[in-house]
Amino acid sequence: MTRTFIAVELPNNVRAFLTQEITRLGQALPGVRWVDPDSLHLTLAFLGELDGEALAAAKTATQEAATAGAPFTLRTDAIGTFGPRQAPRVIWIGVQGETARLLATQETLTQRLEKAGFPREQRQYSPHLTLARLKAPLAAEALTKLVQRQRESVQASASWRANELSVMKSEFLRGSAHYTRLQAYPLVSSS
Ligand code: 2AM
Repeated sequence: MTRTFIAVELPNNVRAFLTQEITRLGQALPGVRWVDPDSLHLTLAFLGELDGEALAAAKTATQEAATAGAPFTLRTDAIGTFGPRQAPRVIWIGVQGETARLLATQETLTQRLEKAGFPREQRQYSPHLTLARLKAPLAAEALTKLVQRQRESVQASASWRANELSVMKSEFLRGSAHYTRLQAYPLVSSS
């Protein structure tokens, strides 16, 4: 079985920028376990544990969506959180830019996956790059600093051109998640 998701991978300039962001946030939020910047990606669909046949179907659906799509340019945006305001569970960085194309590609992918038997996520798609998953509530001081950071306007960002969709494998190794690309399909320009 293969724990599978579909993502847009990030180039080195974005990883380097996110490493800086994590270092800056880490100073304000001691004790938080941050995601390894090398493993950061923009998830479009999470499919869970798949057998060989389902994985093949997921690859075909991803190829179809990529072929129907076109490249798009994105940039990092502000810091955000998921979960209750007083006890956030996830700290993420948002994306801006040609998000209409990203959302159109994600919708096409979702439709192709649905046709192949993968149920649509109930929650609306909300593009984000997860920086930390919080296992315990933040101390009051850290929470205040995080809320301040969320309110700050974006001073700097990193941008990139998304050229392909990747079928990714997720494994839990030595206490942390590791992601490997199984296959990448070019977003074929149609305009
Ligand atoms: P996240 O960044 O918001 O945690 C691999 O786990 C990728 O699939 C992550 O980017 C993760 O999103 C995403 N994902 C979406 N739903 C998931 C789920 N139910 N379990 C694990 N990962 C999920």
